[in-house]
Amino acid sequence: MSVQPITSRSFGDQIAGASLAEFWHPVAHVSEVGDQPTAFSLLGERIVLLRDADGVVAFQDLCIHRGVALSLGSAEGGVLTCAYHGWKYDRTGACVHIPQLGEGGAIPRKARIRKYQAVEKYGLVWVALEEPRCDIPSWPEDMWEAPGVHGHSILPKEWRANAGRATENAADLSHLNFVHRDLIPLQDGPVIHEHVVEPTEYGLRSMYRDGPVSWEWQIHAPFTVFAKKSGLAPAGEAGGSTGGFEQNVMCWAAFHSPVDEHLTRIFYASCRNYSLDVPDAEYDGKLVGLVFDQDQVIVESQRPEHIPVELREELHLKVPDAIALGYRQLLSRLSRVGPYLP
Ligand code: FES
Ligand code: CO
Repeated sequence: MSVQPITSRSFGDQIAGASLAEFWHPVAHVSEVGDQPTAFSLLGERIVLLRDADGVVAFQDLCIHRGVALSLGSAEGGVLTCAYHGWKYDRTGACVHIPQLGEGGAIPRKARIRKYQAVEKYGLVWVALEEPRCDIPSWPEDMWEAPGVHGHSILPKEWRANAGRATENAADLSHLNFVHRDLIPLQDGPVIHEHVVEPTEYGLRSMYRDGPVSWEWQIHAPFTVFAKKSGLAPAGEAGGSTGGFEQNVMCWAAFHSPVDEHLTRIFYASCRNYSLDVPDAEYDGKLVGLVFDQDQVIVESQRPEHIPVELREELHLKVPDAIALGYRQLLSRLSRVGPYLP
């Protein structure tokens, strides 16, 4: 197994001082974006997405003329027309036509809308509101792109919760034998074994062993969790893994999109090198839906809604909460951005 380079000495060295706007965030599943403008939000900023022959484009959802939402308008060949007075904008955000000025009318140089960087990756549309400080998170050992591996993503879940709280929940070992005791309990029971949590250039990583199953946990700043599991029994085999399946590897990802401080869209995706003939819905689609529902009630109830990043707040257990402790230290290195990370 290849090991990611460890270049940080403490959590969050690489992102110190960054604001949340300086990261790529997933905003939409690719199936949610078509050739007509559609409204989304990221970090409280209204954005409009559409797709033309050259790919996906993202703009601030605000017409420069009178502040109308451009997502109310329409698009043709990637040219976006505002619903209010019909100004037209090209894919660079420049205004190319103002009907009230007639053909050849001089368009003011300032007539342009704000464009954001946007790309498609892992079946999702990612947007950066400002120049990003890191790349889009890459899967452990680039497993998503590896030969012999099948990946799939599902439509996002929306929780009335802060993205930091949701991210911490996705990497929380201690709740598995409580919230999910009927679905995905730790095989060794509720006691959490000692496990090392180490800083990495992208965030943090931990290894965990549960019965015959080896886990690798990664949190990529600020809101991505990968969980790679080796040693799982093939899908449909009852009773969990009893060993002998070390070559079976699956990795799931939870990409948390901070819509605003109270709302998070969670994009789940997974890939695997076994049980390839099993439909995705059977493999983990149904299970993931149930697991998300169980977590949602818990995380939406958490107060304060924001995740406290100062370790003196709330109460931590050294071993069981080791990943969360590292994660909160990581977040504490970001620049404070109002209600997202007070
Ligand atoms: Fe958009 Fe007037 S508000 S064209
Ligand atoms: Co859970």
